[in-house]
Amino acid sequence: MDESRRATLIEAAGRWGTPLYVTDLDAAVANAQAWRDALPGALVAYAVKANPDPALLRRLADEGFGFEVVGPVELSLARRAGATSDRIVVNGVGAGDAHLADALAGGALVNAESLSALDALLLAGKGRIGLRLNPSIAAATHPHLATGAAASKFGIALDELPEAVHRLARAGRAPASLGAHIGSDIHDAGPFGGLAELLAGLAAKSDVAQIDLGGGYAGPLDAWVDAVAPHIPETERLVVEPGRSIVADAGWLLTRVVRVQARGHLIADAGMTELVRPMLYGATHPVELLEPGAGLPRGEAWTLSGPICEAGDILARNLDLGPTAGEGALLAIGQAGAYGAAMASNYNGRLRPAQAVIEGGEVRLSRRRETLEDLTARDLTEG
Ligand code: LLP
Repeated sequence: MDESRRATLIEAAGRWGTPLYVTDLDAAVANAQAWRDALPGALVAYAVKANPDPALLRRLADEGFGFEVVGPVELSLARRAGATSDRIVVNGVGAGDAHLADALAGGALVNAESLSALDALLLAGKGRIGLRLNPSIAAATHPHLATGAAASKFGIALDELPEAVHRLARAGRAPASLGAHIGSDIHDAGPFGGLAELLAGLAAKSDVAQIDLGGGYAGPLDAWVDAVAPHIPETERLVVEPGRSIVADAGWLLTRVVRVQARGHLIADAGMTELVRPMLYGATHPVELLEPGAGLPRGEAWTLSGPICEAGDILARNLDLGPTAGEGALLAIGQAGAYGAAMASNYNGRLRPAQAVIEGGEVRLSRRRETLEDLTARDLTEG
């Protein structure tokens, strides 16, 4: 990373302590803008679940981006950030009737993920009902992140689609959108070409205005565009729901080394409770030394472990951060903008970390660190 980035991150750690998440809003907006430039007229709906930092949502809303939300709370967060309903897409395999009805009445595009959800939406009344399909496409990714395979719980099966379209037609309606989300952390653009071909073919049969290709792509954008464009040249018909590709490389988790076990463990003040991805998906994140700490015994490949009482609480393996990454060293864990802060937990009595944002070269706090009072506020039993 360049010197000014390094200086900003060091400043943030000094002001608000560690563990601390820092998101560069300008970098995230540039990533979102790249989607918009590549797909003129398309709805670029940022997947809120990747990182619901309030300053990030506000900035993306101000810049005119849309939001993909799951559940009533994310819907409220998008609305609070200033998103207009015509730019909100609602998904959710477990969405309840009341939530679906509220989202529909509010004007969002609401995707039915089952025939039963479709019935609930039809009962709820007017509004834009989309169909989220199970496209039976298995993209290469971690099994926890593959959502497009036939056996997954997501979406209306292809052989149920005629019935779904029939139920809409009986109500005098047509699907506002046909879409699918085939999974996450997919580096190969090929499956998105297959999805585009499938959806374009289906949409042609039933008078569908929009085609929603979901999120999930984690490779270079031009390869995605090359895969999709032959099947859907009219980009203004498209909805995309990128999360990771907008925020992953715009965020860092800052942590300090607290203890060193000479048998190979650097123990950090962040762990699986702040960044669960290495433990949950075997994800690898780059680690960089920002500020030196005490000296380290030489010649070892270090494991960066967290403070949690679980042997699997590991952030990174085989690290060589040089001879000064001992106690007190400040580290930046990269590619942490997506599904980092969003998946933080209170396990082991951990208070969720503070979040800061960089905008126009300045860094400021966007969410303060959780406190013991926050944690006990819901308790119905005294002390
Ligand atoms: N649309 C829908 C319907 C989704 O379920 C998701 C992510 C997205 C869009 C955005 O996908 P993205 O572009 O961010 O890959 N916790 C996991 C990721 C789970 C993704 C869930 N759905 C991780 O840490 O890798």
